[in-house]
Amino acid sequence: MTNKYMYFIANWKMFGGLNSLNSLNTVTKFFEKFKKSKFVKIIYCPPNTLLESMSKKLKKSRIDVGAQNCHEQENYGAFTGSINPMMLKSVGAKYIIIGHSENRKMGETDNLINQKINSTLKAKLKVIFCIGETLKQKRKKMTKKILDTQIKLGLKKIKNKKDILIAYEPVWSIGTGLVPKNNDLLETVSFIKKKSKNSKVLYGGSVNSNNINELKLVNNIDGFLIGGASQNSKKFIDIIKKTYN
Ligand code: PGA
Repeated sequence: MTNKYMYFIANWKMFGGLNSLNSLNTVTKFFEKFKKSKFVKIIYCPPNTLLESMSKKLKKSRIDVGAQNCHEQENYGAFTGSINPMMLKSVGAKYIIIGHSENRKMGETDNLINQKINSTLKAKLKVIFCIGETLKQKRKKMTKKILDTQIKLGLKKIKNKKDILIAYEPVWSIGTGLVPKNNDLLETVSFIKKKSKNSKVLYGGSVNSNNINELKLVNNIDGFLIGGASQNSKKFIDIIKKTYN
């Protein structure tokens, strides 16, 4: 794969303090010199506590910053502990990850996800919309049915699809070291593109600098959502380099 526009999204989850920002120097330096950089979109999604300082730090780079979740209400409100998209935007977020399986597991429903997507788009931010089946569902051959439902309900009545990236993240592959077979991925990604009417589709789940050589061969994937491996700048850079090798 040489000249394809690809997203590399770092999902730091609940990791990282102010000192973790130093590790970004390696990434910005690499990116300034990288020959294929015009084809690459890097987005860092740190915990909210780091959003503002990270976006200031990356201001002069072409790297964007995003949040990992939000409250569904557009305006301020009496919701202790919650933050809405407009507030995330005010500290530098350009994207919000919505529907991550770690949040679905905590009770986030498709309907709630749909509301969050709506208010994120209204705040003029872009959405990284996560979908994916569990191992049990995969074993029961329910993958397509589950994805179809998640897409239908999550994107219900949403017209502005151009500001939505979909991340296909099979729950069984997140943090486990397991990844789908290339043929399965190819088929699933094209299914998602068809059902969601051609949004960009990324893959996420145990992406690392070893399996990227194999994953990059799936030619309908528009990028990767990277958890564990994104916390280490060297590994993250390696994934990008190898994708374009
Ligand atoms: P992982 O996480 O790369 O550590 O599997 C991916 C994600 O949860 O977005």
